[in-house]
Amino acid sequence: MLISPSILTCDFAHLEQELDFVKRSGADWLHLDVMDGVFVPNLTFGPPVIARLRPLSDMFFDVHLMMQYPHRLVDAFAAAGADLINFHVESASPVAETLAAIRSHGKKTALALKPATPAEAVFPYLDQLDMVLVMTVEPGFGGQKFMADMLPKIAALRAEIDRRGLSVAIEVDGGIAPDTAPLVAKAGATVAVVGSALFNAPDPTALVQTLHAIG
Ligand code: DX5
Ligand code: ZN
Repeated sequence: MLISPSILTCDFAHLEQELDFVKRSGADWLHLDVMDGVFVPNLTFGPPVIARLRPLSDMFFDVHLMMQYPHRLVDAFAAAGADLINFHVESASPVAETLAAIRSHGKKTALALKPATPAEAVFPYLDQLDMVLVMTVEPGFGGQKFMADMLPKIAALRAEIDRRGLSVAIEVDGGIAPDTAPLVAKAGATVAVVGSALFNAPDPTALVQTLHAIG
């Protein structure tokens, strides 16, 4: 599986060093959790911070928007240097128009699903997507317990993507660690967000190697 570390658990006073830590761990992407305090009960950062991080890293910026109105800031996140813009199908933005706006900037597209939302919610958009994100915790905070009852949703998405012959990646986010990664890989996930498990790991490089070998 590809590994996309979330900087939500990192030391926000030293972001440059934390980016360096992620790079040295051997991870593939950088997962940036944008929260607006409305869609989720937490607030993080937005385009100005991402724009400042962009020159410091050559990693793929996987931007996860937990926002009520993501379409309002698509242009700003694209200009800030996002490589992929991922927003929630439960947001208040028009899904097709928001996906088209992301595409118009030449960026990769993704839709995210909260735990209560069924896989079928993204089926109408699958052929416009590079990735689907299945939340395996309630969005808002790092360090929560993995929800094993999300595994059938991952499998349902995998089956539909394969049935239609599409090459849409499936990302999982929340509680991913060496014990839960094999379960999501078996269900069909191809990208794993890793937050607290990486930032608290005694040997981050070994952890990424272990996760890379799964799936
Ligand atoms: C939660 C975020 C996740 C979170 C994952 O809303 O979307 O990316 O940081 O953190 P862990 O791996 O600690 O569950
Ligand atoms: Zn996330």
